Amino acid sequence: MKFFVDTADTAEIADLAATGLLDGVTTNPSLIHKSGRDFLPVVQEICGLVDGPVSAEVVALDHETMMREAEVLRNLADNVAIKVPLTIDGLKTCKKLTDDGCMVNVTLCFSANQALLAAKAGASFISPFVGRHDDNGLDGMQLIEDIRLIYDNYLFDTEILVASIRNPIHVLESAKIGADVATMPPNVIRGLFNHVLTDKGIEGFLADWKKTGQSIV
Ligand code: E4P
Repeated sequence: MKFFVDTADTAEIADLAATGLLDGVTTNPSLIHKSGRDFLPVVQEICGLVDGPVSAEVVALDHETMMREAEVLRNLADNVAIKVPLTIDGLKTCKKLTDDGCMVNVTLCFSANQALLAAKAGASFISPFVGRHDDNGLDGMQLIEDIRLIYDNYLFDTEILVASIRNPIHVLESAKIGADVATMPPNVIRGLFNHVLTDKGIEGFLADWKKTGQSIV
């Protein structure tokens, strides 16, 4: 499963990229607002920090303006994936862009039927929002299972990019289901490394090593 980070904070992205475990980045207008930076330069900077796809979202609601915005965004770098909302105009834009060889991430997916439409529109990625699904009393992970089944039934290439992840359990469940990508806030990625028994084990080994009076280097 690929790991994307869901942030526009370039310091966080650079730090996580240095682990060698980061496969891409997703942003959205709220994350750009949170960064306090201008959209175009920040996307361009992020594209230089990772080799993988960097999702940058259009903000227009009509197809023509979406296409104009996408043109600006895709010219920023080769690894930009245009993010479009799951609407008729968004999917029209998706079809046109993917036919033209551009990566497209269809966002704000809340049903398996929407995911089916996105795949038929040639989406490179579909972003089902599991956390927001759970927040509304629905089962986010069931949505991922349904999409996996449908995409496998018809051999769609669209990658399932699990979004709106809130905790490591969402990541674990996504991996068990066979989702292609998980996009996570930086704190969730960092949380994956932690285990209290790992810390305790290191503490014990180091205490005993000290007693040997030896050093390796
Ligand atoms: C994904 O691409 C979205 O940016 C993101 O996962 C939304 O998450 P939220 O529901 O925590 O805002």
